[in-house]
Amino acid sequence: MRRKLIAGNWKMNGLKAEGIALAKAVFEKCATTPDKTFDILVCPPMNVLGFVAELPHAGAFVGAQDVAETTKPNGAFTGDISAQMVLDLGATWTLVGHSERRQYHHETDAVVKQKALNAIGAGLTTVICIGETLAEREAGQAVDVVRRQTRECVPMQATAENCVIAYEPVWAIGTGKVPTTADVAEIHAAVRDELAKVLGQEKADKMRILYGGSVKPENAKELLNVENVDGALIGGASLKADSFWAIAETLM
Ligand code: PGA
Repeated sequence: MRRKLIAGNWKMNGLKAEGIALAKAVFEKCATTPDKTFDILVCPPMNVLGFVAELPHAGAFVGAQDVAETTKPNGAFTGDISAQMVLDLGATWTLVGHSERRQYHHETDAVVKQKALNAIGAGLTTVICIGETLAEREAGQAVDVVRRQTRECVPMQATAENCVIAYEPVWAIGTGKVPTTADVAEIHAAVRDELAKVLGQEKADKMRILYGGSVKPENAKELLNVENVDGALIGGASLKADSFWAIAETLM
């Protein structure tokens, strides 16, 4: 049985006080739900990552939103944060390959794979994000695109313990639009099939594949019940502890 994961991607939101307050509210909900059957991950922006990681957070994981592409743990890479630095802050996870990184920072599948390798090598668990654009979906290429991204972004070193996949159709992120459950099921099955080709069936069967893109308390139950959907990556609705937790609660 794959344990479900509810992950919040706060993106570039929240000054220090807000970020810490949001994290505290989420961690308190975790602490008062001792027998939960799912994992919780929050990915704050860098301005608060260290503060959030230092809060008591039993039952929840803290992650970064990105790590540097260079294999070096330090050096002349202005503006970058290495996986080792993330770990040093007390965070144990990171996202890589989010569509906003691919879009605004021109990250290719090869870059995403290198970042995933760096994260895994440093001892972080990594969420590798993939997903088709609207143009690709409308051209009937969605399955081919996510298969290619899976093949080209997931390193051989990935296991169910150090890696999670997040399928996030770009056109569903922040738009309020969600794919049909049949479309989600089709993509998640294709991703698992492709994972089996890269990593072998046993690892592929254990690896979690999240759905992300406009997940809200109202649609979470339906999406989380789709076959091969092992959790959710949540942007907008993760910025309020109540709506984030309401999504997690659909699993209780
Ligand atoms: P959203 O973002 O929930 O606001 O659509 C999801 C994501 O980008 O991870």
